[in-house]
Amino acid sequence: MKPISISLALVGVLALLPSCSSKIDPLPPKSTHDESLGLRDIDWNLTKADVGQVSAIVEVEGETVFFGSHGATILQGGAISSTVAGVSEWSAATPIPAADGVGTWIVGVTSDGKLLRLRATGVFEDVTARYGLDKDHVRAMIALDTAVVFAVSSGIAIADGKTVTHYDAAAGTTPAGGNGRLAWTEKGEVRTLDVKTKTLARYPLTGAAFVTIDHDGNLVAATARAIYVEKEGALHLAYTSPDADVGALVAAGTRVWVRLGAELGALEAGILHRTKDLELPATTRLVPAMNGDVWTLSPAGLHRYGRDPADLARLDWETTMLPIFAKVCSNCHQPGGTANVDLSTYQGWLDYRGEIRKRVIDQRSMPPKSQTFAESDRDAVKAWLDRAP
Ligand code: HEC
Repeated sequence: MKPISISLALVGVLALLPSCSSKIDPLPPKSTHDESLGLRDIDWNLTKADVGQVSAIVEVEGETVFFGSHGATILQGGAISSTVAGVSEWSAATPIPAADGVGTWIVGVTSDGKLLRLRATGVFEDVTARYGLDKDHVRAMIALDTAVVFAVSSGIAIADGKTVTHYDAAAGTTPAGGNGRLAWTEKGEVRTLDVKTKTLARYPLTGAAFVTIDHDGNLVAATARAIYVEKEGALHLAYTSPDADVGALVAAGTRVWVRLGAELGALEAGILHRTKDLELPATTRLVPAMNGDVWTLSPAGLHRYGRDPADLARLDWETTMLPIFAKVCSNCHQPGGTANVDLSTYQGWLDYRGEIRKRVIDQRSMPPKSQTFAESDRDAVKAWLDRAP
């Protein structure tokens, strides 16, 4: 990577710190993965507004802006408040730090590589030169805290409000990012760049095709059939798809959404749940929504999906109670176990929740005294009983 700085106001001196490389730890994936993902199909378009064929979506202050075949269509409270026409093909759009350093601009990237700012006055303004990119073709754009990263024909360009720095990295690949960190695939590995410290990290991963940075700042990368999540600097196998290929990966809120063939998966708290019969078209793209929902964009239409609260309650049980079950109760409460009461499933815990409270919390007679049981686990059971649906 050879950084070249173009100064807008101040001269920036940027050098990449030595990179670190890490190995993949082949941990076996968790067993609950094939549980079905519960979705809510969110009615985002109450007035059946015609927003055209949408290719990018921006959410700001109660407004949702759809960039697509109709230009930019702004929806407020489910109804169209205005439309700015004139451009019909977009490759990206996002709110980014203004080139003059004051506030945020909503900017779309046109299919011919220009940056158009959507002005409050209802017009598009070409701001490509304002970011020093008039000689480039912009393909994608990622806002990272106070910086914005552009994927350009020659590599990537990072604008921090004062300086635009070009790197000849990632040419041809589309970077993704969040939490001040950029990720892309290059030469059979995944690379990340901490935009503030300019630290480059490299993760060998043959066949890596999709990358994102999750809400904790960890790298998530996918090959055609496997998803890896970074933990303490190394990638760990989190999920292997038995049948469908990964087709898209985006981080939204506390989860990472993934398209698995025609189905949607949500990776959250280390566990992936997937739909069974969503039948998404093969070209479906995913766009994250600020609250953790996901938009599915395809020629067949636009949907917004959120996780069903019941699904999240089950995920909560899986991440908090299932480990306690596995550690202690499973000795006797498996199906057909000596206790004759099956507590191996979420449903089992819901059905027996009254008895669990009585035995584990009130009488403290479960697990039997012969078993080691941490007081913190008993407290965790009580906390779960208090919040369980
Ligand atoms: C060493 C074996 C053993 C372990 C470990 C154990 N149990 Fe039990 N449990 C039993 C047996 C045997 C019974 C049935 C006899 C009884 O009711 O006391 C039982 C009964 C229960 C019941 C009452 C079910 C009913 O019939 O209404 C609950 C609730 C329960 N266990 C919860 C748990 C939980 C939760 C754990 C783990 C934190 C656990 N137990 C761990 C052996 C065990």
